[in-house]
Amino acid sequence: MPVYLFPDSKLDFCKTDLFAFCRLFLQHEELLAVFKKKFKDVPVDQLAKSPELENHASQVMSTLDEAIHSLNNLNFFFELLYTIGVTHRDIAGFRPEYFWRIEQPFLDAVKETLGERYTHNMEQIYQVTIKFIIDTLYKGYTKGAVK
Ligand code: HEM
Repeated sequence: MPVYLFPDSKLDFCKTDLFAFCRLFLQHEELLAVFKKKFKDVPVDQLAKSPELENHASQVMSTLDEAIHSLNNLNFFFELLYTIGVTHRDIAGFRPEYFWRIEQPFLDAVKETLGERYTHNMEQIYQVTIKFIIDTLYKGYTKGAVK
């Protein structure tokens, strides 16, 4: 499934993003531990390469993509991210500060994907945008539907 970051440029983000996000979970033992708890049937040594983890990476990217495309419709933007923030409350071992672990890998993935089109200006826009997205997820988790 291709992910579109800009309406006018279709970027095949999938390969880099999945790779980057699966790597993220491998590097952080405490993130992987959340998946270990959730997917008890998956042997620990296979979790890293599991469809469950890959599926989540793809859900994260689709969410970020949708959020970026909803910046012109803030009601939808908040609704989307608050809801996802709230669903993470049901995940044993999850902590809301874990959302922030996505920030740098996301920026790296965008940089890698855009190549020379990743200008300084673009970098600043993405830095602000990802902070806004994660802050909203965090608020969704901690405050629920309170806007
Ligand atoms: C920007 C950050 C993140 C986004 C946008 C995101 C997005 C999502 C979405 C859309 C779902 C599916 C929710 C549903 O079906 O109701 C999900 C599920 C889940 N997320 Fe996240 N997530 C993020 C970060 C994390 C982190 C850091 C962890 C672990 C430490 C995590 C663990 C999980 C787990 C265990 C599930 C359940 C998977 C399943 O049941 O198949 N998420 N996430």
